[in-house]
Amino acid sequence: MNNKQRVLLIISGGIAAYKSLDLIRELNRLNISIRCILTENAGKFVTPLSLTALSKDKVYQDLFSVSDENTMGHIQLSRNTDLVLVAPATANIIAKMSCGIADDLATTTLLATDKPVIIAPSMNVRMWNHASTQTNISTLLKRGIKIIGPEDGEMACGEFGLGRMSDIEKISATLNNFFKIKTNKAAGKLKGRKVVVTGGPTHEAIDPIRYITNHSSGKQGFAIARALHEQGATTTLITGPTQIPDPPGICVKHITTAEEMLQSCLDCLPADIVICAAAVSDWRIKNQYSEKIKKQDETLSLELMENPDILATIARTQKNRPNLVIGFAAETQNLLENATIKLDKKGCDWILANNVSKETGVFGGDTNQIKFISKNKIEEWPILSKEAIGKKLTKRIIAFLKDHKNGKD
Ligand code: PMT
Repeated sequence: MNNKQRVLLIISGGIAAYKSLDLIRELNRLNISIRCILTENAGKFVTPLSLTALSKDKVYQDLFSVSDENTMGHIQLSRNTDLVLVAPATANIIAKMSCGIADDLATTTLLATDKPVIIAPSMNVRMWNHASTQTNISTLLKRGIKIIGPEDGEMACGEFGLGRMSDIEKISATLNNFFKIKTNKAAGKLKGRKVVVTGGPTHEAIDPIRYITNHSSGKQGFAIARALHEQGATTTLITGPTQIPDPPGICVKHITTAEEMLQSCLDCLPADIVICAAAVSDWRIKNQYSEKIKKQDETLSLELMENPDILATIARTQKNRPNLVIGFAAETQNLLENATIKLDKKGCDWILANNVSKETGVFGGDTNQIKFISKNKIEEWPILSKEAIGKKLTKRIIAFLKDHKNGKD
């Protein structure tokens, strides 16, 4: 069986396109197999013949090629790979990616792919610094696309500044590192474990226009799901409305209300581990208005009713209760006391207590400070990034599963 990692290399039309030949040579040396897509403009800098000779594969150029679409259409091209690399990535292709334009084989493939994408920008310094390019780059970053470079230095046009494509060594080292991480995941310590994570807020409609919600951004829940996935867990993330793009490789279920989140969680059982990081609205409107409420009096009373408690339902009432049920406690006062009461009341195994007072910036921010509470111990974690908390919790879960094949701590 061929166990080489596969890269789909999209070469767009910049002067650095000539470096793609050396890049392919280097990736071959790392035992990575390359298939190339050449844009029309890139074809002016490098020939399909030389790319074919080095990649030992056909070079794909035309979206409307009858023979190519028969044997290897753009959808297959976008899926039959482990990674898509755009190098060089011109300002033009970056702009198209950011807007979702699909007007040739390269951009159509980029829009169709469900694989991780890395780009190595290459352009004139002014083009790089231009507000449009910078906005496009931040859009791509938000979508989880990784960017290598660009580097500072002299450009082909004679100007100096940021815009040179990164060295072949840097690009190949990034790819090598990516595949090492991927390989770790394949052998990850949570391989074979099924995990469900909830994240983000819920929205509870008042009328067709307004709703009740809270400040949860989803960052903490997403970070936990990513950390578990990196260790090979089969991860489902059930999230309320957030601005965060779906993390690659994770099954993401989008819900709006607490009741939908509960149903979605129950549909995912049996699972080995459930982690409830979502900020679920404790109440919903008793009688939702079917039309927009009109302004009448100075005050308006809304009757609220309690939402189901997802964490308690999973921990207390399920026959196929997961081995480990973990909740959060978001408190603005008496953190330890209130969180310990929640651990007991909701029947979960661990509670991660966090102070969500406005001044801590935990809601929506990038850091968090946790008091980890189990039935017989309390640990104070330092202020950490939400990513680091995801990783620390994952490590604890791995240790727990190793030490307690049947029991709990
Ligand atoms: O999303 P971020 O901006 O990154 O912020 C992260 C966070 C502050 C939302 C997160 O760290 C956090 O604390 N999540 C839990 C928020 C919460 O609703 O806490 P609570 O103390 O009200 O609820 C306790 C536990 O019961 C939580 O695990 C919650 O998911 C769960 N719950 C609450 C109500 C409900 N109806 N069903 C539940 O399952």
